Amino acid sequence: MCGIVGYIGFKKASEVLLKGLSYLEYRGYDSSGVALMTKGKIEIFKAPGKLNNLREVLLKEQNICNKSTSGIGHIRWATHGLPTELNAHPHTCNCGSLVVVHNGIIENYKELKNELEKYGCEFKSQTDTEVAAHLIAHEFSKCKDLMAATTNAVKKIQGAYAFCVMHKTMPDKIIVARKNAPLIIGVGEGENFIASDIPAIIEYTKKAIYLNDNQVAEIKKDSIRITDLEGNLLENKVEFLPFEPVALSKMGYKHYMLKEIHEQSDVARNVLQGKLTNSKSEIVLEDVKLTPKELKNIKRIQIIACGTSLHAGLVGKYILEKFAKIPTDVEASSEYIYRDTISDENTLTIGISQSGETADTITAIKQVREKGSHVLIITNRPDSTMARLADSLLPVNAGIEVSVAATKSYMAQLLSLYLLTLYLVQITNPESVKDKEIVSLKQEMLELPNKIEAVTNNTKAIKETAKKYSSFKDFIFIARGINFPTALEGALKLKEISYINATGYSAGELKHGPIAMLDETMPVLAILNKGCVYDKVMSNCEEAKARQAKLIGVTNFIDRKSKDLFDDILTIPDISDTLSPALNIVVLQLLAYYIAEYLGKDVDQPRNLAKSVTVE
Ligand code: AGP
Repeated sequence: MCGIVGYIGFKKASEVLLKGLSYLEYRGYDSSGVALMTKGKIEIFKAPGKLNNLREVLLKEQNICNKSTSGIGHIRWATHGLPTELNAHPHTCNCGSLVVVHNGIIENYKELKNELEKYGCEFKSQTDTEVAAHLIAHEFSKCKDLMAATTNAVKKIQGAYAFCVMHKTMPDKIIVARKNAPLIIGVGEGENFIASDIPAIIEYTKKAIYLNDNQVAEIKKDSIRITDLEGNLLENKVEFLPFEPVALSKMGYKHYMLKEIHEQSDVARNVLQGKLTNSKSEIVLEDVKLTPKELKNIKRIQIIACGTSLHAGLVGKYILEKFAKIPTDVEASSEYIYRDTISDENTLTIGISQSGETADTITAIKQVREKGSHVLIITNRPDSTMARLADSLLPVNAGIEVSVAATKSYMAQLLSLYLLTLYLVQITNPESVKDKEIVSLKQEMLELPNKIEAVTNNTKAIKETAKKYSSFKDFIFIARGINFPTALEGALKLKEISYINATGYSAGELKHGPIAMLDETMPVLAILNKGCVYDKVMSNCEEAKARQAKLIGVTNFIDRKSKDLFDDILTIPDISDTLSPALNIVVLQLLAYYIAEYLGKDVDQPRNLAKSVTVE
């Protein structure tokens, strides 16, 4: 999960590269660097820490920057070696004639390094990427053709890579190659761009070529040549990028995360648009390619995902089993890929991923495809690697999500799962579509955007609660039933942006161990909607209170008992238990945000994290 950029054309390369890297900071931000092509020389500048440090370095090198109209750049999330200047990309061969930036992991870098040391290669850094620089240079010394050298080198590499390569004797070109890591070529007029992701190039061009796995490209300012690893010429189509640069601005909010939380009412409208028009209408999901016959043959559903997307999948389990009556398992991708799993043509596999580039989930999806399972991908990036592996696609259309903490994409995933569930019911059990519960669920979904707005427009109590509890070092989030995943997701939000130790538990599990931790230093946040488990959660809260824990209630129902029991209550508009996860989570997102903001944390770029985890 690093970000790479490249530019060749007529503009000042350092400016294009820095701007591109700033839009890729969400992919990793522990060091950065650029290589600028000048007359017969490649100048390299690097800096540890945030991108601003590199900006400072380049400000002092304007005499060189002004002369360079091509270059490559990198922003790093360290996988091999500490986040130091030495380990920052670009990396070079011994003599510095060839430079490389890389996103991904070279799994056989040790064997390659041992081999290259026999040819006198001297390694300065602890990175796997430096091995690639020496390997390509070694191949280049034999064939003197940069594209052929890169092709020969990547054939020896195992793992994931998106490379940009330059050689000082070939100032008119940049070579790129990719496998299991995204790489986009932005097509300009008399200039071309390279990036790991769309935000880095969207200000310059809306035309892009997606390089596919095992492809290599030679990029000049007025030409792009793509081949496979055997050197056969390929024609990748030029696609129109569906994003607007405005998506990349904070629109006046202090952080992208706050903006994206407030966008959720519109995101909800977006997700439902064209799919659900009224409470009696049919659900329309054009990209789901399962025929009614195939759908009727589904005996089991397995949902595979990571992090926040996994929590969305856990909510999906409740509604799929409740309404579609299909047994549903939910698995963390990183566990799934190392188990002897069972899938077949009667298994529907749903992969959920905001980025569509999460390595663990991609690996799992490839495994189930080999076993004949139909793969349906729910993603915010229909242009992603995962989307290209899908038999059916359910784009969530939440818009570019810049903040590392997933918020609006989670909302969109939840609603997509409700739509998919209702779609499956419609196909497999058409007469039940008129059931009161299903009609009222559809009606509630149509009313949801306004209810989300009611929460995001009334944040006073949430801000006060955030300030009151911001000094606690530990939190427990509890819920039961369909809101158990909400407790997990609320705890993850707080953990990842405030670094507070927050854990989500099933409320019923409290008495089986975690209650031992409770005292006045460990607040308990309980999510309890009026419904079948309300009284049970209330008694769990009483158990917590008896241990002196401070109690925060998130609920749509308040009575004398709850007023007496809870230290603080955060309310949501009235909503059924079934749809309440989509509303409760907005309160928890805002609570986490205001606690982290109050603590002065780097909300959009929390330490150690990256937006897209493209390594296993
Ligand atoms: C969510 O806030 C985190 N950033 C992280 O858990 C994320 O959900 C996880 O890495 C999965 O990412 P994906 O949805 O892009 O696959």
